[in-house]
Amino acid sequence: AIPVIAIDGPSASGKGTVAARVAASLAWHYLDSGALYRLTALAALQRGLALDDEPALAALAAKLDVAFLEGMILLDGEDATETIRAEAIGEGASRVAVLPTVRTALLQRQRDFAHAPGLVADGRDMGSVVFPHAPLKIFLTASAEERANRRYKQLIAKGEKITLSQILQDIEQRDARDRARSVAPLQQLPDALLLDTTRLSIEQSVQFVLDHWRA
Ligand code: CDP
Repeated sequence: AIPVIAIDGPSASGKGTVAARVAASLAWHYLDSGALYRLTALAALQRGLALDDEPALAALAAKLDVAFLEGMILLDGEDATETIRAEAIGEGASRVAVLPTVRTALLQRQRDFAHAPGLVADGRDMGSVVFPHAPLKIFLTASAEERANRRYKQLIAKGEKITLSQILQDIEQRDARDRARSVAPLQQLPDALLLDTTRLSIEQSVQFVLDHWRA
């Protein structure tokens, strides 16, 4: 079996950055599963679909035309790398992610990322649903305040007009939705290692994962 490092955790915890760097350092593949939910939300908004129209969204997710090329993400052949990072798309992603048939439609597509020599996958249900046999599972988190600060810096750098308190509110709402949903709820699995990055640098967080992989 292809080795998988599953990194799950709440919004804006820094999972994406850490996972991508771990993958680069091992020369493994990387799956940003959240991007698939963000792309589904973006495609739905572009087509004027309601974000609770489950049959339409599941059909859309099943035939989503996406490509991940060297850090660039394409939707229907167009560059969506930056567009999907908008706060409104993150909010939309968290709403489509509660729909069980949307999640099923994206399942095989996620598993298809597992190629030799290995895969680092980040999301909410990498260790529970998508790669339950992953030999290393990490639950990566940080305090809500620290996560809001990190997201704030990202969004402000992109020119979004948003306040820190609005972001904190969004993050808490999304965490609550991710934890309360009936399918693939965000949770710390008994076989996952806890990595609290509140007071850790990116480098220290990456090192933690690498140390546990080599151990
Ligand atoms: O950047 P942030 O951590 O907020 O979000 P993301 O990882 O890009 O994921 C966006 C949304 O997709 C999350 O709020 C989750 O609701 C959902 N998601 C999920 O349900 N399952 C995954 N494996 C990944 C993301």
